[in-house]
Amino acid sequence: MQDPTESEPWWRGAAIFQVYPRSFMDGNGDGTGDIAGIRSRLPYLVELGVDALWISPWYVSPLADGGYDIADYRDIDPAFGTLAEAEALIAEGHDLGLRTIVDLVPNHCSDQHPWFRAALAADPGSAERALFHFRPGRGPGGDLPPNDWQAHFGGSAWQRTTDADGRPGEWYLHMFAPEQPDWNWDNPAVRSEFESVLRFWLDRGVDGFRIDVTDHLVKEQGLPDSAGHHGRPDPWRDQEGVHEIYRSWRTITDGYPGERMFVAELWENNPARFARYLRADELQTAFNFPLLKSAWDAAELRGVIDDTLSAHALVGAPPTWVLSNHDTTRHVTRYGRADTTYDFDRAGRFGRPVDVDLGTRRARAAALLTFALPGSVYVYQGDELGLWEVEDIPDELRQDPTWLRSGHVDRGRDGCRVPLPWSGTERPFGFSAGPGDADAPPWLDVQPAAWKDRTAAAESGAPGSHLELYRAGLRLRRAEPGLGDGPMGWLPSAPDVLDFTRPGGFRCVVNLGPSPVALPERAEPLLASGPLEGGLLPSDTAVWLRWEE
Ligand code: GLC
Repeated sequence: MQDPTESEPWWRGAAIFQVYPRSFMDGNGDGTGDIAGIRSRLPYLVELGVDALWISPWYVSPLADGGYDIADYRDIDPAFGTLAEAEALIAEGHDLGLRTIVDLVPNHCSDQHPWFRAALAADPGSAERALFHFRPGRGPGGDLPPNDWQAHFGGSAWQRTTDADGRPGEWYLHMFAPEQPDWNWDNPAVRSEFESVLRFWLDRGVDGFRIDVTDHLVKEQGLPDSAGHHGRPDPWRDQEGVHEIYRSWRTITDGYPGERMFVAELWENNPARFARYLRADELQTAFNFPLLKSAWDAAELRGVIDDTLSAHALVGAPPTWVLSNHDTTRHVTRYGRADTTYDFDRAGRFGRPVDVDLGTRRARAAALLTFALPGSVYVYQGDELGLWEVEDIPDELRQDPTWLRSGHVDRGRDGCRVPLPWSGTERPFGFSAGPGDADAPPWLDVQPAAWKDRTAAAESGAPGSHLELYRAGLRLRRAEPGLGDGPMGWLPSAPDVLDFTRPGGFRCVVNLGPSPVALPERAEPLLASGPLEGGLLPSDTAVWLRWEE
C-alpha cells in the first residue's frame, strides 16, 4: 500500500488482484472456493505485491451467472461463508496493507431476489412490478416480446411470465440471463435501495466498488426497438441519465473517510463517451478493455496506449490496464494463437491451435509492459501463475449460461474460471483444504494435468518462473517512484518495438517482432521477461532498464 501521507490517492497507481471466489481457494474442503480460503491466502497476496483485492460477487445467489445474479446484496452466500467472515477478511486485509474492492451489480438482480418474487406475485401495474421492467407483449395475445432487444447471453431480452390463473402474462426485461431481471432505475425506490447497499458495505470498511455493466442501468424512455434506431447510443445503454446516478454515488463515497473509489466495467469503444464516466464528480477509474482486445502487435498496442492516455487526459483520470478477467479468454491462450485479438464473439476463435510456450512468453512480456504503463494495473487470479484457458471442458460440465443461451454456439467463460492450482502434482492441486470433506472434487473439476508445473508451490522460489517474474515486477513497480500514475514518453524505435520512458531514468522496451533487437546503450537491465543474450532483446520479450538520457 502506498504511504497514506503521499498526496496522490492510492487508486491512481495501484496494483489490484481480482479474486473470483468460487475458484480461488476452498478453505472448508467442499469443492467451492470461499472466504476462509481467501483469508488463508492473504499472505500469498502480500508476497505477490498487490495493493488491493477486487472480489467478484460473494453475495447470496443461486449462481445462475456465477454470482452476478444476486438475491441479497447485504449478505454472503453460505457457500462462500458468512458476513462476519467477510468483515474479518476486510479487517485482516487492512492490517496487512491490502484494500478490498467489492463487486456491485446494480443493473439486475436474481429472479430469487425477494423484490422480484413479490413483483411476479403482484398484478400488472403494481408498485412491486414498477421496480423492474414489466410490459405486455406485442402481437395477438401478447405473444411477442415487447421490443427487439437481444440478451447478451443470447435470445430475446424478454421473458414471459405466467399469471396466478396459469395464463401467460406480462414480459420482463433481462439484458443477461432470464434469471437476472433488470432493475428499473427510473424508480426512486431502486435508487435509494442501492444507496443504502453502498453505505452498508462502506460501513464495513470496503475501499471501493467495481460496478458491473456500468452503462446499462438507465434505458431509453419508451424502450424503443434497436432495429432502425438511428440515434446513438443503443437504447439499452449509455443513456444520459446514468451519469446522475454516479454523481450521487460519488457524494456518498466522498462522505466517508479514506480514499474510497469506483472502477467501472465499461465496454465502450468511443473514447469521448468513455471519458464522460470519469469526469471529476463521477467515477474515478474504469477498466480499459481496448488493450485486452488488441492483437499482440506493436503498432496496434501503441495506438491503444496513445488513445487511452488521451481519453483519460480529457478528464484527468488515471488509466487502468487489464489483460484478462473472469469473462475473457486467458491471455496466455490468446497470445498463443495465430489471431491474438479478443472479442466477445468467442466462438470463431475457440479451439484454434494454441502454442502455449509462445503465449506464455508473450504473457510475461505483456505483464512487464502493463506494469510499466501510467496508471493502475489489474491481475486476474492465475495470471501470475501463467495459467491458460481450459478449452477442453466436457460440454456436460459447462456451467456458464452463455453456453445454453447461445444454443451451444458459444462455449462460454468456464475455461478462465477453473479452480486455481496451489500445490502438489495431482488434481485438485491443493485447491481444497480444511476441516470438511477435503475429497470433494472442485465445482469445475477440469484442471489440466500439466498445471502441476504451474502451481503456486511449484513456481514459488523457482528462478525464472511466471510467479517470480510477477513478484519481482510488482516489487520493482512499487519501489520505482516513476511507475504507477504519472507521465510517459515514447522513444523512437523500430516498428516492431515499443520503447518508452518513465520519470527517474526508467525505461521499458518490448520487442514484439520476430528477431532479436539490440539493447539500448547506457542502459542497465533491472528486470527482463526472458533471458537476454549477447546484448540482445529476443523476440516477444520485455526489459526494464535504468537509463541515462
Ligand atoms: C459483467 C460480469 C459478467 C456477468 C455480467 C452480468 O459483464 O463481468 O461476469 O455475466 O456482467 O452481470
